[in-house]
Amino acid sequence: MTESIRFLMCSPDHYDVDYVINPWMEGNIHKSSFDKAREQWQSLYHLIKDHAIVDLVTPAKGWPDMVFTANAGLVLDKTVVLSRFYHKERQGEEPYFKTWFESQGFTVHELPKDLPFEGAGDALFDREGRYLWAGYGFRSELDSHPLIAEWLDIEVLSLRLMDERFYHLDTCFCPLKGGYLMYYPPAFDSYSNRLIEMRIPPEKRIIVEEPDAVNFACNTVNINQMVIMNKASENLKARIEEAGFTVLETSLTEFLKAGGAAKCLTLRVTEPVIVDRHAVVKVESHTVLMEGHLLDAGLINRALDLVVEGGGSFKVLNFNLGEQRQSTSKAEIKISAPSHEVMEEIISQLIDIGVVSLEDDQRDARLQPVEQDGVGPDDFYVSTIYPTEVRVDGQWLTVQNQRMDGAIAISETPNGLVAQCKILRDLKVGERVVVDVVGLRTIRKTESREARNAPQEFSFMSAGVSSERRVELIVEQVAWELRQIRDRGGKVVVTAGPVVIHTGGAQHLSHLIREGYVQALLGGNAIAVHDMEQSIMGTSLGVDMKQGIAVKGGHRHHLNVINTVRRYGSIATAVENGLVKSGVMYECVKNNIPFSLAGSIRDDGPLPDTQMDLIKAQEHYAELLQGADMILMLSSMLHSIGVGNMTPSGVKMVCVDINPAVVTKLSDRGSVESIGVVTDVGLFLSLLVNQLDKLTSRYGVVQVG
Ligand code: ARG
Repeated sequence: MTESIRFLMCSPDHYDVDYVINPWMEGNIHKSSFDKAREQWQSLYHLIKDHAIVDLVTPAKGWPDMVFTANAGLVLDKTVVLSRFYHKERQGEEPYFKTWFESQGFTVHELPKDLPFEGAGDALFDREGRYLWAGYGFRSELDSHPLIAEWLDIEVLSLRLMDERFYHLDTCFCPLKGGYLMYYPPAFDSYSNRLIEMRIPPEKRIIVEEPDAVNFACNTVNINQMVIMNKASENLKARIEEAGFTVLETSLTEFLKAGGAAKCLTLRVTEPVIVDRHAVVKVESHTVLMEGHLLDAGLINRALDLVVEGGGSFKVLNFNLGEQRQSTSKAEIKISAPSHEVMEEIISQLIDIGVVSLEDDQRDARLQPVEQDGVGPDDFYVSTIYPTEVRVDGQWLTVQNQRMDGAIAISETPNGLVAQCKILRDLKVGERVVVDVVGLRTIRKTESREARNAPQEFSFMSAGVSSERRVELIVEQVAWELRQIRDRGGKVVVTAGPVVIHTGGAQHLSHLIREGYVQALLGGNAIAVHDMEQSIMGTSLGVDMKQGIAVKGGHRHHLNVINTVRRYGSIATAVENGLVKSGVMYECVKNNIPFSLAGSIRDDGPLPDTQMDLIKAQEHYAELLQGADMILMLSSMLHSIGVGNMTPSGVKMVCVDINPAVVTKLSDRGSVESIGVVTDVGLFLSLLVNQLDKLTSRYGVVQVG
């Protein structure tokens, strides 16, 4: 029985570390000893020869890595898929291996030119012959997997390698007889780990820890109940033995210097064939189209990065480069993913950046009925801030109420089909919801070159000298826009936190409201309380705003204010009765500016106006945000994030916070419409008011003159 097992090896006559194509080779050029390598190889050779037949291929001068015959190709029965090496340093081995396979009567399949695949180094049969595990990510391309499945007529399970030390599948993964699997999980992405766990029951998994993994313990030759490897810890050996195997160690340190060990030095050329196996590949591909300033806006990089980071791979089928400064480019890209699930995730992210799926132009969106009020179907498409269209009955519908993190609901109305973004709780039985990612497209306007190159985040008080000037620049820009929005009767919504009051911004925000620059105010209980405390008692949370020191008994101030306003029944009544004579809330009431105060668990009081029913508060926020042209987010992380989620793209957002993390979080919506400013909010408001005054007085002078 053992006699029928055959391996191919290649004597290390020309072996050396001559170049660096994996991290193990770094620092090891010409550092391996020729004699020691020969000795180690001989020991391995004899060990294997005791239990199987070993064929030899003649080593070729100038191809030092040819000893690693695992990379010659992938054999199943009498068929072989010849390797296509990723690195030119090894491509010269291909003809030698090809000749050998042909001389032995194998049917040789060759992959297309630019489709790398490194043979049994990256593809391992389940030892029961039921399926093939195939790696990708470093040396082999995902797109080679469907061809392998077809040629060998076997199910291929694609695994994505993530750690460059484990660049070949056989460096971190070793199926053993009896359905066992010895592997190092951190070498794979989480999707691949799930796939492995679905196929291999827990009692058959032999998990290798990092110290063993870096000794190439997974790079094991398995002949029936025997495993041959470089080295294993006592603990690992015990676990392998418990599974019924005998462990043979044979030192291969000289080959580790090139990134290989026992398994790499061998190729099993007799693989058990199961008759009722069938080609199955989960690899899906999909062609998409991108148009726009692909290169100078970095869009193409962003898209291709998304594909690779998401676990897929790509092939650029067509690239049409725009010739003029203003002309756009066009690219057609074929995307592959190891499963439908992964593909869906990738495509939905690509749709977000405006990529159009070619096939999907011809397909309707997949819809599923709402079966319970307030609950969407599994797998519903999650909406984004970008204007979206959905194809239903061959017709593209524009989605209404665009916002992120919603579902797209399709309903039949007397005027025909209507698509709208809805938050989950608003879904109703009778509506259908878009699932999957087909039949969807987002419209992204092509950004002007100037806008694209504008810095997206300004830093003040956190960085060097030039930043002061940069905040001034952005204040100028915001002031200009506020002015224009006001003059054309547009809408500016402000979300503000209590910090606005503590930092002395109340007078400036009051000024903006009074002068007609603000059309709605969104906040919580605290900003209103502190604002009125300041106006009534001159303190904010008990601290004197003029002198900056705590007032005796001041900690009670804010509770007194809440209590008094509660007596009046509302902020408006308190203002009308002369209790509150200035400040942000005063100006809102006096100028008929609607405000919404959303409650939270930590609110004192609360004020009678604070909405403690959060669903109602969200609805009120959404209502006040309708039609906004600009949102000024002033030092209130939670309210601002809430607002950001309700807002479609196209609405300019200016986020001011002293904490850079908040600014990044809020302004990172992948669009040029949001600007982040890291600075003290009181200071920002004072600069803004100053600038607006300058603008206005200039107009005033013209009028007078
Ligand atoms: N230096 C070789 C390379 O980087 C080592 C190959 C190891 N082979 C293997 N099947 N893991 O390609």
